[in-house]
Amino acid sequence: MSKINIAVVGCGYWGPNLIRNFSQLTNVDRVFACDKDKNRLSKVRDHFPNINTTDNFENIINNTEIDAVAIATPVFLHHKLGKQVLESGKHLFIEKPLTSSVAEAKELLRLARENKKTLMVGHTFEYTPAVNKIKEIIDSGELGEIYYVDMSRLNLGLFQPDINVIWDLAPHDLSILMFVLGQRPTSVSAYGASHVIENIEDVAQVRIEFSNKLFALLHVSWLDPCKVRRATIVGSKKMLVYNDITPLEKIRIYDRGVESESSYDSFGEFHLSYRYGDIYIPMLSGIEPLKVECSHFVECILEGKTPNTDGQNGLNVVTILEATQESIKKNGIRVDLNWN
Ligand SMILES: NC(=O)c1ccc[n+]([C@@H]2O[C@H](COP(=O)([O-])OP(=O)(O)OC[C@H]3O[C@@H](n4cnc5c(N)ncnc54)[C@H](O)[C@@H]3O)[C@@H](O)[C@H]2O)c1
Repeated sequence: MSKINIAVVGCGYWGPNLIRNFSQLTNVDRVFACDKDKNRLSKVRDHFPNINTTDNFENIINNTEIDAVAIATPVFLHHKLGKQVLESGKHLFIEKPLTSSVAEAKELLRLARENKKTLMVGHTFEYTPAVNKIKEIIDSGELGEIYYVDMSRLNLGLFQPDINVIWDLAPHDLSILMFVLGQRPTSVSAYGASHVIENIEDVAQVRIEFSNKLFALLHVSWLDPCKVRRATIVGSKKMLVYNDITPLEKIRIYDRGVESESSYDSFGEFHLSYRYGDIYIPMLSGIEPLKVECSHFVECILEGKTPNTDGQNGLNVVTILEATQESIKKNGIRVDLNWN
């Protein structure tokens, strides 16, 4: 097989981006689109006149010409639709977060393994030039020992009816964190509050602990007047600020830090030296991350490779999300993460 046919299910805000990118790939022959809302399908046909459309998901499942399906529906449907896709013998791409629970995610992993099908999750940021550059910088040791990471993902809306702000916004930060640090956390604690829709938290703060005193603080909100997508990584040698809102110069590396000048016996001998060195901005390529992500999915199917953001990667994020929910319910207690 040198080309595949792929269907995108869910043509709301995000689905058309997947349709556009899959349509541009030379190793994709035909793209199908499915949405239960006929108006959404009519808009899709306006933009992509050659596309095959259906408002019935069963037509996608029963179509033996379709090799792979990408799910971009609301999160509560990810598991139900994804399960049918794998059981019908097709490869599966699911938007983030993989599922609404750990049990659901584990079932999809098992089905993919048993049916020998590719399972990939849309953790788009792991395909961005900026996040890959940050990983390269951390791995090179340029920042020194990482002390902590501070992340914010804030804006006004878009409220989701089926999930809270952590399940909506934090999957990106959690996948970025584990990718750049190269490790999974040991525990989380979370605080969240609902102001607009009862029992759906619209603002939350999460503390994520890793081994060796390393931790991350994450603030997510649908109730902020300003759009913020920022991460600060503080290391013993240098500090890095990643601002995803700016079109250029997304990463700045600050040669700044604080050092204890010498050992001291009393308060009078307490001396710290502050270093205010240069700031530099690494060059990043302008490639569209979603194009890299879609191309990677098709390549993995054709070459039998495991995706960088495979089912396990999706399960890791869902495991942390589920633990934050438990912590919120119990007033922010620390919830240990069991990775077995
Ligand atoms: N990777 C990213 O950066 C990114 C960005 C935005 C959204 N997303 C993810 O994409 C997914 C969709 O989000 P959205 O904002 O586009 O949602 P949306 O509500 O705008 O669109 C969902 C679409 O699914 C359709 N749908 C619902 N049930 C269906 C069914 N049974 N069969 C066929 N179609 C059905 C709806 O009619 C709607 O058009 C979510 O998982 C979200 O987390 C990912």
